[in-house]
Amino acid sequence: MTLRAATGDASAPERAPAVVPVHVGVIMDGNGRWAAARKLPRIEGHRRGVEALRRCVRAAREVGIRFLTIYSFSSENWSRPVGEVTELMRLLKLFLRHDLAELHRANVRVKVIGERANLSPEIRDLLAEAEEMTRGNTGLTLVVAFNYGSRQEIAGAVSRIAADVAAGRLKPQDVDVEMISQRLDTAGIPDPDLIVRTSGEQRLSNFLLWQAAYSEFVFLPIYWPDFDKAALLSAIDEYARRDRRFGGVTNCPGP
Ligand code: IPE
Ligand code: IPE
Ligand code: MG
Repeated sequence: MTLRAATGDASAPERAPAVVPVHVGVIMDGNGRWAAARKLPRIEGHRRGVEALRRCVRAAREVGIRFLTIYSFSSENWSRPVGEVTELMRLLKLFLRHDLAELHRANVRVKVIGERANLSPEIRDLLAEAEEMTRGNTGLTLVVAFNYGSRQEIAGAVSRIAADVAAGRLKPQDVDVEMISQRLDTAGIPDPDLIVRTSGEQRLSNFLLWQAAYSEFVFLPIYWPDFDKAALLSAIDEYARRDRRFGGVTNCPGP
């Protein structure tokens, strides 16, 4: 697959997409390869990735997306070299410290999903502060998937349900799809309509497995640091051409 550079053209006319997905999930992938292609250390790709994230949030707000979930660190990313993990933690701290006030001013509500227990107290405090400060905001909801793994999330929900059954608070026959959804980290957030992954990889990598049952997938042939508004609009264009059937039929002639 050939990867192209970002299309970002400041002079390109602004246009509003005809169909705007309510919830977009983004798997921000390809920082390392972006850096390697430039003979730079991987962490330089992550640094540039933060700038792409800022562009992404701004574009999502401009386009009118209501929920944007960004996959920023997976449960499995701990297996990377310690120096890279440390840098990713540092960049999250920097992003929260540097961007929180601006996000708040822009009426963005921040919500964090993922396991917090094994994060440093400093990061836990920053994540809690971001959620607390922006709780009442009514604009874009920015869902930060940090130390997130969907299988772990589902296992946690099942465990809590099992505990309720064991304690007699719940009957096994009452367990249904809605109840499981309400016990996931994403409770109250609509399922993603569109999931975008950059870098050309075509997999979920443990992102929103349950929630993506009927999501549309768009795989962009760019590395994450090159992501811009034009890339988001191209993914939305592709989404708008899809026929979402949810198991039913649409305008099909015949028997
Ligand atoms: C995405 O870029 C960032 C994180 C997973 C945190 P990668 O670091 O995965 O970049 P590639 O896939 O190695 O190019
Ligand atoms: C998925 O990317 C995780 C994030 C973007 C945070 P990875 O680069 O970790 O996924 P794999 O290892 O290629 O599946
Ligand atoms: Mg990757």
